[in-house]
Amino acid sequence: MAEWALVTGGGGGIGEAVCECAARRGYRVAVVDQSMEAAQRVASRFDGARAECVDVTDEAQVESLLDRLGEAPALVVNNAGIGRFGPLMDMPLDQFELVLRVNLLSCFIVARACARRMSARGLGNIVNITSINSINPGPNAGAYPAAKAGLARLTEQMALEWGPLGLRVNAVAPGFIDAGISAPFFANPAVRDLRSRAVPLRRLGTAADVAEAVMFLASDEASYVNGHELVVDGGVVSSLLLQLPREPART
Ligand SMILES: NC(=O)c1ccc[n+]([C@@H]2O[C@H](COP(=O)([O-])OP(=O)(O)OC[C@H]3O[C@@H](n4cnc5c(N)ncnc54)[C@H](O)[C@@H]3O)[C@@H](O)[C@H]2O)c1
Repeated sequence: MAEWALVTGGGGGIGEAVCECAARRGYRVAVVDQSMEAAQRVASRFDGARAECVDVTDEAQVESLLDRLGEAPALVVNNAGIGRFGPLMDMPLDQFELVLRVNLLSCFIVARACARRMSARGLGNIVNITSINSINPGPNAGAYPAAKAGLARLTEQMALEWGPLGLRVNAVAPGFIDAGISAPFFANPAVRDLRSRAVPLRRLGTAADVAEAVMFLASDEASYVNGHELVVDGGVVSSLLLQLPREPART
């Protein structure tokens, strides 16, 4: 029987692309989402996949999900995430807290519950989806950068503690991705053009770009990679000087 890949927020966007890549590599996919309809739509695309309606911020729901799966997943992708945008001055406390709960706390809940089961087998991979906002803040990004920076550090902490148990824990930090939460934003041609020009590769990323990076980190080819945050952004976070050209030296 194929191994389980558990993908949170698998009901669309980047998560759906991760499910697709995992299914192609022979995993049985557990498509976990708070929307049953979305999870079912994605699960119906892949043989042996199952749809699981779970709020990943709820530990009891996560525990019973893992009991239902029966076996420890071989791969866990903490992908569920949300944004609540606006100036910090006006950010309601409940919105700030919700972003921390979904983007950070849920990853701890899911990863720990899975790691307890994976460690009994002495192997497994966890990949957390962060963001370039784990490295840089963004305009009106609210709690999102803090949550993603926290997730990047949590990734390292889990790698440090669980590496000796045979688990690898890594992260993927997507940049400007034309999918999921950003799709409506990039539907505006002016925004699309401006953001594309800011990227050294001169294009927005796709959900598949992110999913392939996740699969690399989970693969045997990355068997010595642990506690790493792989930035998948076409070079944008390191492009500060892109807009400030300098003449080539003449000597
Ligand atoms: N799209 C981008 O440009 C981009 C860039 C950087 C990082 N990311 C990150 O990638 C991940 C996926 O984002 P996306 O753009 O595909 O968004 P999306 O909104 O399309 O997908 C997120 C999924 O998570 C689910 N979800 C939300 N809260 C949940 C909960 N409590 N329990 C279970 N499921 C829940 C949603 O129902 C949704 O299906 C997120 O962590 C996001 O922060 C996205």
